[in-house]
Amino acid sequence: MELKEVLRFADEKVFSKTGKHLDDLQEAILKETLQGRKYATKIAQDRNCSEGYVRVAASELWKILSDVFGEDVTKVNVRAILERAKFYNSPSAILSNHVTFNNVNVCQERARSPTEPQNPQQTSKQLHIDLGDSPEIFTFFDRTSELSTLENWITHDRTRLIALLGISGIGKTTLSLSLIDRIKTQFDYVIYRSLGFSPTLDATLTNLLQIFSQQSEIPQNIETKIGQILDYLRKNRCLIVLDDVQMLLGSGQLAGQYKTGYEDYQLFFKLIAEVCHQSCLILNSWEKPREIARLSKDHHPVRCFVLGSLGEAAKEILNSQKLSDEETWETLIDIYQGNSLWLEFTATLIQELFGGRVSEFLQCEMPILDEGLQSQLSQPFGRLTQPELAVMVHLANQPEPVAVSQIFNKIPFSPSEIVNAVRSLGNRFLLDTQEQEQITLFSLNSVVKQYVKTQSS
Ligand SMILES: Nc1ncnc2c1ncn2[C@@H]1O[C@H](COP(=O)(O)OP(=O)(O)O)[C@@H](O)[C@H]1O
Ligand SMILES: [Mg+2]
Repeated sequence: MELKEVLRFADEKVFSKTGKHLDDLQEAILKETLQGRKYATKIAQDRNCSEGYVRVAASELWKILSDVFGEDVTKVNVRAILERAKFYNSPSAILSNHVTFNNVNVCQERARSPTEPQNPQQTSKQLHIDLGDSPEIFTFFDRTSELSTLENWITHDRTRLIALLGISGIGKTTLSLSLIDRIKTQFDYVIYRSLGFSPTLDATLTNLLQIFSQQSEIPQNIETKIGQILDYLRKNRCLIVLDDVQMLLGSGQLAGQYKTGYEDYQLFFKLIAEVCHQSCLILNSWEKPREIARLSKDHHPVRCFVLGSLGEAAKEILNSQKLSDEETWETLIDIYQGNSLWLEFTATLIQELFGGRVSEFLQCEMPILDEGLQSQLSQPFGRLTQPELAVMVHLANQPEPVAVSQIFNKIPFSPSEIVNAVRSLGNRFLLDTQEQEQITLFSLNSVVKQYVKTQSS
């Protein structure tokens, strides 16, 4: 969305609520922030005033915007909130037939608006959004560079298949929904589906065809279904997010292998990557599906994006949970790897048992693993093979990162079994890797290490 448009929209909303337009300074702060820049120094220099003065004005501006938009606006989430509000405020987007909302959680009331036809007659180039039962996103912090990389892959590089990967709780679902919100107007169809209940490929294809074809009859034969889907992907620009793809993958075998009865997904994803069309499929998973690794190395328009720490923006999570001792927040974020969900669990614990005081909590032997956090980790752990488990236990007891060869002879498995286990653990995002003097070293982050120690003691 154009910067100018967003600024104008913010100004209009502020004016309609307060009767005052944004002044020059407020507009400059907003403009710099929306472009992801650090505003204080530059604006202070441009205007010959102190940085402190600019910061006070900024904090006043976030208060005004919070009041106008009815949610906590900060420099980190302002862009997402304005863009979302702008989209849902646009009468042409909501009430005309140019957008068909079907089960859009973000805006239930509007989706059920009586002025909107129940089954609008579709023309070929409407925007159809069906987000199924996607979670509603209340707050979204930062991820500016991740969003622009993904947007660039999709709009500029025309990537056909993207695997959005990373350990559970890191923010894949939230990021993909925010991405949808950001780029949806470039598509004819935008679809989000979770595969959390492990639907068969046949069920998923039928579901997609129901969205594409509305009333027309769905064929019985799975090959015809695939053919029809590819045809829709060719004729329309579609963005499809399939979340929780790890639920199609099996347990007790090396990472990325499909469960019995789900192997045909592999062929479907391969076709999406190889066949020529104008759409994009995003697969979210906490385990890398096997074919993705191979396809992304060939020349197919396939990419992997491994999502990491939320970084500095994780402070907003701690802030929203009203924790104190801000000077210690960075330590807390580091210990919990900037994982949004781990931090949410821990923040709740700190609030309940330590009155929100982070420094008091940090005096405990770190890291403390909240029960919810343990249960999250138990999912990938429940899938490990014996060699993988042995590697994890070995690594949990190493004070320093080690090379693969240093694990040989330390556990009762052959070098091949150990090498495959290490690679598989990497594909489950359970290992930290670093390069040192031409050697790759592996270790466990503090939370995973603690979890393994608890489980193996
Ligand atoms: N960028 C973000 N801003 C605010 N909250 C976030 C962000 N990313 C993740 N979260 C929160 O962290 C939790 C886990 O995120 P989620 O997207 O479900 O992770 P994943 O899909 O990787 O398991 C959710 O409660 C979500 O609201
Ligand atoms: Mg998720």
